[in-house]
Amino acid sequence: MKFFIDTANLDQIKEAQDLGVLDGVTTNPSLMAKEGITGRENILEHYKKICDIVTGDVSAEVIATDYEGMIKEGEELAKLHEQIIVKIPMIKDGIKAIKYFSDKGIKTNCTLVFSVGQALLAAKAGATYVSPFIGRLDDISTDGLNLIAEIRMVYDNYAFETEILAASVRHTMHVIDCAKIGADVMTGPLSSIEGLLKHPLTDIGLEKFLADYKKGN
Ligand code: E4P
Repeated sequence: MKFFIDTANLDQIKEAQDLGVLDGVTTNPSLMAKEGITGRENILEHYKKICDIVTGDVSAEVIATDYEGMIKEGEELAKLHEQIIVKIPMIKDGIKAIKYFSDKGIKTNCTLVFSVGQALLAAKAGATYVSPFIGRLDDISTDGLNLIAEIRMVYDNYAFETEILAASVRHTMHVIDCAKIGADVMTGPLSSIEGLLKHPLTDIGLEKFLADYKKGN
């Protein structure tokens, strides 16, 4: 299972990278705005900075919502760095753009996916990743994890190569449940990864080991 961090914050990306288990980064226009990164040039520069920190895939989202605009922006993003994955919304022109990029060998991440049908369409168009947003489904009292399970079943039925990128992960249990279901990737905040470290018996056990060592030395 790949671990992506869902942020545009360079310090958090560095921290996750230093842990040695990071496989990539996802960003979106809201995450960029949160870091105060505005203006096309600054945004492109920021993507390059992220690529310099991590070794894996970095999703960079197009702003255009029409086919021509998405192609223009996506080609510009893909040229920025070999690690860039062009992130495209699940809309009609988005599917056409994913197909275009797939035919050209440019990797894509189909974002804002909330149903199995949408995921099926993304796979048919040749998306590299499909991003079902589990946290946002949970927010409206719908089972986000069930969507991951259903997409897993459909993709396995037909051996689609599109990777299921569980997005909108909010906490550590989401990570564990996605791993049980068989999501290929999860993207979440640093806290969702660091939460995996924690167990009180580990802390108690370590404290006792160190205390016993001190007694004999
Ligand atoms: C996915 O690529 C999105 O950036 C992200 O996971 C959305 O998460 P949120 O619902 O917590 O905003």
